[in-house]
Amino acid sequence: MIEVVKHIDDSIHLISMKNEQLEIVVSNYGCTIVKVFMADRHGHVDDVVLGYDDFNQYQTLDAYLGALVGRVANRIKKGEFTLNGQTYHLAVNNGPNHLHGGIKGFSYQVFDYEIKDEKTVQFHYLSKDGEEGYPGNLDLTVTYTLDGDCLKVHYHATTSADTLINITNHSYFNLSGHKENINHHTLQIHASKHACVDADGLTTGEFRDVTGTPFDFRQPALIGERVDQDDDQLKIGKGFDHPFVFDTQENQVILTHQDSGRQLIVSTTLPQAQIYTANYLDGRVGKYGEHYYARDAICIETQNMPDAIHLEEHPSTILKKGETYDEITSYQFKVIKS
Ligand code: BGC
Repeated sequence: MIEVVKHIDDSIHLISMKNEQLEIVVSNYGCTIVKVFMADRHGHVDDVVLGYDDFNQYQTLDAYLGALVGRVANRIKKGEFTLNGQTYHLAVNNGPNHLHGGIKGFSYQVFDYEIKDEKTVQFHYLSKDGEEGYPGNLDLTVTYTLDGDCLKVHYHATTSADTLINITNHSYFNLSGHKENINHHTLQIHASKHACVDADGLTTGEFRDVTGTPFDFRQPALIGERVDQDDDQLKIGKGFDHPFVFDTQENQVILTHQDSGRQLIVSTTLPQAQIYTANYLDGRVGKYGEHYYARDAICIETQNMPDAIHLEEHPSTILKKGETYDEITSYQFKVIKS
């Protein structure tokens, strides 16, 4: 069942998507995933994503809790790129670089929406030519479908002129229901290489084989046993804040919290995910009056290569006029009974 449960104001609403397994509360503000209620193996229900009680915090703070991020997720070097011979200037809003679509990226925009049926809500946003410095009118439709224990997110976009696009969702997952941090969560990522970043979090173009490093999650490993290891890339990122390049086409990331029996399986058509262990959360107050610190959650930001426009020969983030951006990421929230 899908119903509007709250009007934050005239244009911003909270929408509940509910079935026997899950209740997911989303907003048309930034397509934000506000709450995900799921049972543990004993039937006890908790909210497994971070967020805010006061909606104003989504509009004013910078951690992108639960938000859709775009037009281009992650960093663009020096907030500048050249496309078809023309140079575009973007906001420099993260050290020397552009981050997450700029000052007022998609995370901070109000989407139109329509409840399509009892499982599906569809959001729509037209990003105008020149918005945040990007060329082309970008017409974006995002469809959230709740089916059993799975939330499917479908992104579809076209543009009136060649542009860049790299959309992700920035949910902060904590399967304990934020009873503890994520150190006792087990992570599995089907990725045999990761991208390196510099001190500003910008991808450098270097990739490393994960073999023999704390980045090797091909077999499940506890996050807490890895995240503070002596590794130059972990030090530079203050934890994991790196793109992992997938080896498989589905079920690429599996996050498990043994004590509760809760498991999240992320499956995507995209080639990578930025894995971010909430390194910059600094004690801000979130939902239920709880304070959020580094390692309190993990973001699994499925996307194309950050800064692809500068690093790839044929940048995966270019969307040409006449082409379609069409990607799906699904989040399966499973309960392991034994
Ligand atoms: C980035 C982090 C950043 C966080 C919140 C992540 O996607 O990689 O470096 O701090 O988003 O903005």
